[in-house]
Amino acid sequence: MVPTDSIVLVTRQLPKVAMLRLAAGCQPRIGVTTGTISRQDLLAGISDADGLICQLTDQIDEEVIAAGSRLRVIANVAVGFNNIDLAAATRRGIQVTNTPDVLTDATADLTFALILAVTRRVVEADGFLRAGRFDGWDFDMLLGTGLSGKVLGIVGYGRIGRAVARRAVGFGLDICYCNREDIAFRDEPGRVSIPTARPDVLHSFTQSSQLGGLASRHVGFYELVETSDILTIHTPLAATTHHLFDRELIRRMKPGAVLINTARGPVVDEAALVDALESGHLAGAGLDVYEQEPVVHSGLLSRQDVVLLPHIGSATREARTAMAQLAVENVLDLLAGRPVRSPVNLK
Ligand code: GLV
Repeated sequence: MVPTDSIVLVTRQLPKVAMLRLAAGCQPRIGVTTGTISRQDLLAGISDADGLICQLTDQIDEEVIAAGSRLRVIANVAVGFNNIDLAAATRRGIQVTNTPDVLTDATADLTFALILAVTRRVVEADGFLRAGRFDGWDFDMLLGTGLSGKVLGIVGYGRIGRAVARRAVGFGLDICYCNREDIAFRDEPGRVSIPTARPDVLHSFTQSSQLGGLASRHVGFYELVETSDILTIHTPLAATTHHLFDRELIRRMKPGAVLINTARGPVVDEAALVDALESGHLAGAGLDVYEQEPVVHSGLLSRQDVVLLPHIGSATREARTAMAQLAVENVLDLLAGRPVRSPVNLK
């Protein structure tokens, strides 16, 4: 049983079904109904709270954590948790949780929306028509690039990376990936995990696809970067991935390649990306996340060969409701002394 006087600060109001469930088990304290809670209100609201349910825009740093003298659980309503000082929380015995799985399909779908939008110039074509420039069908009007037979490189082969691979089968893409260890030890070849085909992926692809046993290939990090026609990023933001795609790495990408990012903005050096687009080295980019959200590099805003979305990877009604519900269950479980469903622990 959760002690009925437990206070849970919910920085931003959640869908009704989740709020009702939370209110049945403890005393929720809502920060804001829309938008982001102010730093001042966050520090005040957390001071006597037993639990915190927060959004990826809330910076839960050492100062905030220290202000929560009774705090026992921090439930992020996101799969990424780079907004939380995990080490500081762990030192104080506070459990951190996130919301994996429930947003995997939504994010993989949006990744494909970006891949298609960039390669088939969907947004540019829509703008062309609305500007009154569609004055008749023409043979080479708004030509794009086909996906079939192209190499799709998946940087980070976790839940979302694999969900992108499953979708890619249907488009006839040649699917390659590298995993978290390949990225972390990219400059220490001796420590890179040995490329192996994943039997589970092979199995599910041959089961689900009529395309003749297409499967994904595990390749080294630099091979992935240098050979992919489309590179899609699905790695968390951490010290090892901050500016992973810096000027030097972007230079190593295949000429004419497209970069897709639905993970976290700071994984890519935006200024270097702009320069690579400007020089024609890269053919396009599809971004849902930015280095300094909500600010977007002006060099991106003016380009037709990029598609820019306002961080909506998991923004379906289904996913957002499930994320809120999972965060609530994590808090109620912890406060009741049960194991939480999706813990985030220091490695
Ligand atoms: C969204 O960006 C998430 O991490 O859930």
